[in-house]
Amino acid sequence: MAIIINEETGLFQLITKNTEYQMKVDKYGSLKHLWYGEKTGYDMEYLLNFPDVGFSGNIYEAGDDRTYSLDTLPLEYSCEGGGDYRIPAVAVTHSDGSSALDLRYQSYRAIKGKYGINGLPSVYADESESDTLEIILKDTCSDIEITLKYGVIEKLDIITRCVSVTNNSADPVTITRAASLCLDIPHGDWEWIHFHGRHAMERQTERMPLNHGIQESSSTRGTSSHQQNPSVLLCSPDCTETSGSCIGATLMYSGSFQTKIQLDQLNQVRLVMGIHPDMFRWELKPSDTFDTPEVILSYSGCGMETLSHNFHRVIREHVCRGKYKLAERPVLINNWEATYFDFDEQKIIKIAEQAAELGVDLLVLDDGWFGKRDDDCSGLGDWFVNEEKLHGGLGKLAEKINAMGMKFGLWFEPEMVSENSNLYREHPEWAIKIPSRNPVKSRYQLVLDMTNQEVREYLFDTISKVLNSASISYVKWDMNRSICDWYTPCLSSANQGEMPHRYVLGLYELLERLTSAFPEILFEGCSGGGGRFDAGMLYYCPQIWCSDDTDAYERTKIQYGTSFFYPVSAVGSHVSAVPNHQTGRVTPIETRAVTAMAGSFGYELDLNTLSESEKQEVKEQIIRFKKYGPLIHNGSYYRLSNPMKDKFAVWEFVSENQKEVLVHSVIFHTEPNHTQYHIRLRGLLPEINYRLAENGNIYSGSALMNGGILLPESWGDYAPAEMHFIAEN
Ligand code: GLA
Repeated sequence: MAIIINEETGLFQLITKNTEYQMKVDKYGSLKHLWYGEKTGYDMEYLLNFPDVGFSGNIYEAGDDRTYSLDTLPLEYSCEGGGDYRIPAVAVTHSDGSSALDLRYQSYRAIKGKYGINGLPSVYADESESDTLEIILKDTCSDIEITLKYGVIEKLDIITRCVSVTNNSADPVTITRAASLCLDIPHGDWEWIHFHGRHAMERQTERMPLNHGIQESSSTRGTSSHQQNPSVLLCSPDCTETSGSCIGATLMYSGSFQTKIQLDQLNQVRLVMGIHPDMFRWELKPSDTFDTPEVILSYSGCGMETLSHNFHRVIREHVCRGKYKLAERPVLINNWEATYFDFDEQKIIKIAEQAAELGVDLLVLDDGWFGKRDDDCSGLGDWFVNEEKLHGGLGKLAEKINAMGMKFGLWFEPEMVSENSNLYREHPEWAIKIPSRNPVKSRYQLVLDMTNQEVREYLFDTISKVLNSASISYVKWDMNRSICDWYTPCLSSANQGEMPHRYVLGLYELLERLTSAFPEILFEGCSGGGGRFDAGMLYYCPQIWCSDDTDAYERTKIQYGTSFFYPVSAVGSHVSAVPNHQTGRVTPIETRAVTAMAGSFGYELDLNTLSESEKQEVKEQIIRFKKYGPLIHNGSYYRLSNPMKDKFAVWEFVSENQKEVLVHSVIFHTEPNHTQYHIRLRGLLPEINYRLAENGNIYSGSALMNGGILLPESWGDYAPAEMHFIAEN
């Protein structure tokens, strides 16, 4: 078992293949955090420090001992009001209006297998590969109990955490914050990396030293957002891809979140992550329990590459589910950038015919096929086919596409409603708005109240009807605005603060119902591209449209940032037309292809507009992607350059047995008489020889990893290259 408990000393150890996590109950029953890092096999309590710090008070039982302060000690789960002035993880307002908690150890439970969370997505693993530890803490004064849950997946160096708050008292209380993770790191120098951006420019990396005080990455938009991703890295200042210490945490949640990191008065670090407390109030009636979403944690002592590999594996194998979890994804063609709203059946058939001829597997009909939707001002909510555009309906269209040897997929934006729609005219009360205030519109649309059971029923019924009406193999689940005007008639005025979280619970319930009812369908998540790119959505949709920016150069940066936590198979990525529709940039079609191949691959243009030689290239790209698909999706992904800083982007896929290697690169700007660019490969077997398919040259793994290799000479801007190495024996 990966969990070791010493009842005599109160030490709890969570052991994974390469890491160790320790906490310990002290003489006052307080649970201290001792360690998260390399395996030490040693009780790390000796590192605790008990300074007498002015203005850091002492718990009553400590009497005259001024050295025991909850404000200076590393705690396993911090709370408000008990003399720890750092970031609290949990706070409740009791029935008398006070809001202090004083949490002391009660008991523990260790079980085989991984816990699940009611109504929320979580990492799953069977009993042979996972263990659960639950530690119950209780407030000294009220009957509030906090259960800290730890899931340990030993072989993946993964620890998950979540928390349950139970009210065993006779009166209701209000939870005002309940973080999923509190991690105190008392020693060492740390920097942080977060993933910021905007629409069409998601997950840009930013690495910063920690400043004294609090730094934050968060979203109050009702979704995990384009602007900040619910993932964070702490790393030692010397940490690189291949060396140094780092801790990664990602919140498996698709709503408003907050990550806060504090560098305190004693240079200790506290990381707190969970539902955004500004967007959260929860009434806990007597005997009720509230469950937080889950955080997935990993530590690497040998750099960020290993950390990313740990996250890629856990998300691909223990978060994503269903038929397509590990299966090769169909190469798709999406009509959005080809036609926008301006299409009819003939246009779609023409696009499909050309795509089928070139080897595409699936045609996705994007926005505009339903209701009255000729632009983005109307129609959302009316999920029935527009027969003026598509004579004979979806069934006929799907049949024709199937007859070409392709599957058929459809776009939905279930959570939205246009004011100009039948749905809104019939049920204006289903849109989120505050009575007596005008709602904020975004992309002309309003948001449906997903906390309302009737809304979820309507969506389940209408979407199911469409999915049963034709042969549909794929659904793109879009969500194209941030949420505000939080108010629902389904909750009392005192409980409106529950709405943002209940929205996410409603969304998850609907996704669970639909994905279970249609297990053969591949669901792809989307929110104006990657505005809801999180492990919560990946539990229902094994891939997510990465960004509305399809420019190959910009995508190297977006996909670089995405790769720190999310596996390549989760990244929806397409070749689009040039000049690019978001930036006007012109890149070679091969550059667009290699960039899109670092994902779940497809096309987003009218292939009829290409020249004959470009069409041949497309045909060949699809053959190549099918050949490399298993290596790209099942192999290990390496970032060989940092496109945020370097003059080129290079990435590498290595098969599990390390005998096949694919390197793709884009040199951003070719310079005359330039020195050629040099890279070192990683993850190969040093003693064996590899043949480079492009020229037949043979190199040893050691030479390629230590001496490296020159990138092929470039010509023109955004010059792509591919190097495919296969072990000789
Ligand atoms: C969002 C998506 C696009 C496309 C449009 C349709 O922006 O990210 O891919 O589906 O909506 O309106």
